[in-house]
Amino acid sequence: MTVLIETEGVKRHFSTSSWIQRLFRAKGNSVKAVDGVSLSIAEGEIVGLVGESGCGKTTLGWLLAGLEQPDEGVIRFRNRSMRRMSSDTRNKVQLLFQNPKESLNPRKDIRSILSYPVQKMGHKTGDQINARIRDLLEMVGLSAHYADRYSFQLSGGELQRVALARTLALEPEFIVCDEPTSSVDMNVKVQVLELLSGISRENGISLLFISHDLGAVRFVADRLCVMYLGRIVEEGTPKQLFERPLHPYTRALLDAIADIDPGSKRTISLRGQPPSPVDPPSGCRFHPRCSYKDEIGSRCWEEEPQLQNDSGDGLVRCFLYSGISEGSEQPLNKTGLHYDVN
Ligand SMILES: Nc1ncnc2c1ncn2[C@@H]1O[C@H](COP(=O)(O)OP(=O)(O)O)[C@@H](O)[C@H]1O
Ligand SMILES: [Mg+2]
Repeated sequence: MTVLIETEGVKRHFSTSSWIQRLFRAKGNSVKAVDGVSLSIAEGEIVGLVGESGCGKTTLGWLLAGLEQPDEGVIRFRNRSMRRMSSDTRNKVQLLFQNPKESLNPRKDIRSILSYPVQKMGHKTGDQINARIRDLLEMVGLSAHYADRYSFQLSGGELQRVALARTLALEPEFIVCDEPTSSVDMNVKVQVLELLSGISRENGISLLFISHDLGAVRFVADRLCVMYLGRIVEEGTPKQLFERPLHPYTRALLDAIADIDPGSKRTISLRGQPPSPVDPPSGCRFHPRCSYKDEIGSRCWEEEPQLQNDSGDGLVRCFLYSGISEGSEQPLNKTGLHYDVN
């Protein structure tokens, strides 16, 4: 598999210092929105990024789309640092915004909205432009007469399709989809997810699918990354994560969607709100909310676990599994985290 885009040790901290602190050059605090993320996405791969609100998903998406610059670490697209890329190459990376209503101009019809990126990509004559707009609308499942409508005349699902057509007009190789289904109802949500994954598969476009809802990305992603307070805590295929979640946080997230799957017997629930990203907890950032910390002991709040290989192809950041990479066969049963995988 060829890596398309990757981050290495990427950090983005936002200053929270007030003007008075800045005036006296006092050091303010910072929100550690993304705090050391290394992630790679292959050509044509669909990666789901999940985690509670405020854990840094959007910031990571913006960094990958080149709309934010990292304070530390590097982002590479086809092995070249994003900082040194030409604007044409940067266009290969696009962001599909969370709320299409806000990103589409209500005073312009869809044809005008799509014309700009279509012309930018070299379609010059009226016929060429119209043909390309027809193709784009067809790709997103809308008939050609939508070109003459205005965004205020469209439903939430149709707006999301137009926003996608505008993104596709720029012929991207990678799209960051930031909660693309948050503003639509369940039926439309499924349609938008299927549309996005279908377009990705047919055109070999890689996707980063951001969602606070693990259930939503389960069926479209090749790989899932679970984020907690600025860091990735677990990575694996949807099958691995759903059948054998390792990190206590992943288990808690799955527990939260257990109503969708009545057969599920998971019993961990997520207690309290995530701590502030201004002053993350010492050691493992999840330890204040973790039901397993007493089994491991002080290591959980004294030391930060590394993201390491689990017994399969996945990665997990938790002391319950330290020792797996050294070859122990079943380190999970003694902690009560053993799963029967059939
Ligand atoms: N421009 C900004 N300035 C200050 N803080 C920000 C900014 N953008 C995001 N944050 C903070 O960074 C953290 C992560 O935010 P975000 O990336 O939007 O998370 P998510 O998308 O997972 O909800 C939050 O605490 C948020 O308040
Ligand atoms: Mg967000």
